[in-house]
Order: sequence, then structure tokens, then C-alpha cells
Amino acid sequence: MNRKEHWENIYATKSVDQVSWYREHLENSLQMIVGTGISKTAAIIDVGGGASTLVDDLLEADFGDVAVLDISGKAIEKTKVRLGKKSEKVEWIIADITKADLPENYYDVWHDRAVFHFLTDAEDRRKYVELVMRSLKVGGHIIVASFGENGPLKCSGLDIVRYNPETMHKEFGKEFKLLNSLKETHQTPFGSTQEFIYCYCRKLS
Ligand SMILES: C[S@@+](CC[C@H](N)C(=O)[O-])C[C@H]1O[C@@H](n2cnc3c(N)ncnc32)[C@H](O)[C@@H]1O
Repeated sequence: MNRKEHWENIYATKSVDQVSWYREHLENSLQMIVGTGISKTAAIIDVGGGASTLVDDLLEADFGDVAVLDISGKAIEKTKVRLGKKSEKVEWIIADITKADLPENYYDVWHDRAVFHFLTDAEDRRKYVELVMRSLKVGGHIIVASFGENGPLKCSGLDIVRYNPETMHKEFGKEFKLLNSLKETHQTPFGSTQEFIYCYCRKLS
């Protein structure tokens, strides 16, 4: 099964609140995004947003230029249905982030919770960072959350790479300044816990 088939199958067979990464709200993500101090007209992209409610909360907070990208059309469809009429305010992009075509020098904030960590192949990580470099404005903000060093070795049955804030920052390189990080003990819907790290960097050049 290829990457897209894997994710389409997950969203076709599981309810959105019965997956390990589910949270009612992505509180830490929202807090970090708002904490950047961006204006309400700033362009935000949630990469691998899936069926998460971050987009609902961003619209509720009155952000007017929000994009959600995901490899799974089914995930996007579920989120659109949940949002109803409000979904028209969002740009929806169905794409694999390692192959996506995004506008240049456009986004003020790039958010990713639990997508980058699936890129076990260095070439895929290079393509991801290259895309961030191209599409994030100079001075733009990037928030990437992944499993931490004490987190699980797999997510959704797939191998992942675990990070600490320094090793995550290293993936992005000197063009980015590490400004903040935090650890989250995520409670899965099944009663177990998973260590996540959130890494916040700013693009310098
Ligand atoms: C573990 S889930 C996290 C979902 C959401 N960010 C959250 O925190 O609730 C990973 C999401 O990334 C998407 N995804 C996985 N690999 C991807 C890729 N290469 N490009 C774009 N989306 C991807 C999946 O479809 C899924 O929605």
C-alpha cells in the first residue's frame, strides 16, 4: 500500500476521534500560532491537517487566510462536512507534501503536527525543507510537532523519526532560528500517553 492509499484507508475505516493522535483541540498549536503575534490577515497553512479541529479554532479566532493541506481527500472531506458553510473560507489542498506545489514566498505561518516525523527518507525531508524555504516568507514562522525522544517508534502503523527540539531544528538548518519548544504528554483516546515535542522556528533569510 502506498502512502496515499494508507491514509485514505485510515480515514475511510476509522472515526476521527478513534485515532491515536486525536485531540478535541490542538491547544498547544493554537497557542503557539497566536503567540507568533501575526495579524488576522496573515496566511497560515496547516500541513497534514487531516481531520483536526485546528482549522475550526483558527476560523473562530478570526484568521482570514487559512489553508489545510493533506494527502487524504477523505480527511479533507470529513473536515469540510464538519465545518459546513465555514469551509468556504478555507483553501483546501490535497497533496503529498513532498511533491506539493505551493505559492512562493506566501505563508506567514507553517504548522505541522505529526507529519514531518513520517519522513524517514532523507530525500523526502530535503524536499519538505526546500518547500518550506520556497513558500514561507522571510520572517515567517514554522511550528512542527513530532514524537519526542521518548515517544513511540511508530504512528498509524508506520515508522517515524523521533526528535528533540535541537535535532528538529537541525533538519531545517541555519536559515531558521529556534525560538521556542515545548513537550506535550498526549493522552490518546485509548488511555495511553505519547510524548510530543513542538518546535517553533523563524525563517531568517
Ligand atoms: C498523525 S496524522 C495528524 C493529523 C493532524 N495534524 C493532527 O495533529 O491531528 C498525520 C496526517 O498527515 C497526513 N499525511 C501523512 N503523510 C503526508 C504527506 N506526505 N503529505 C501530506 N499529508 C500527509 C495524513 O493524511 C494525516 O492526516
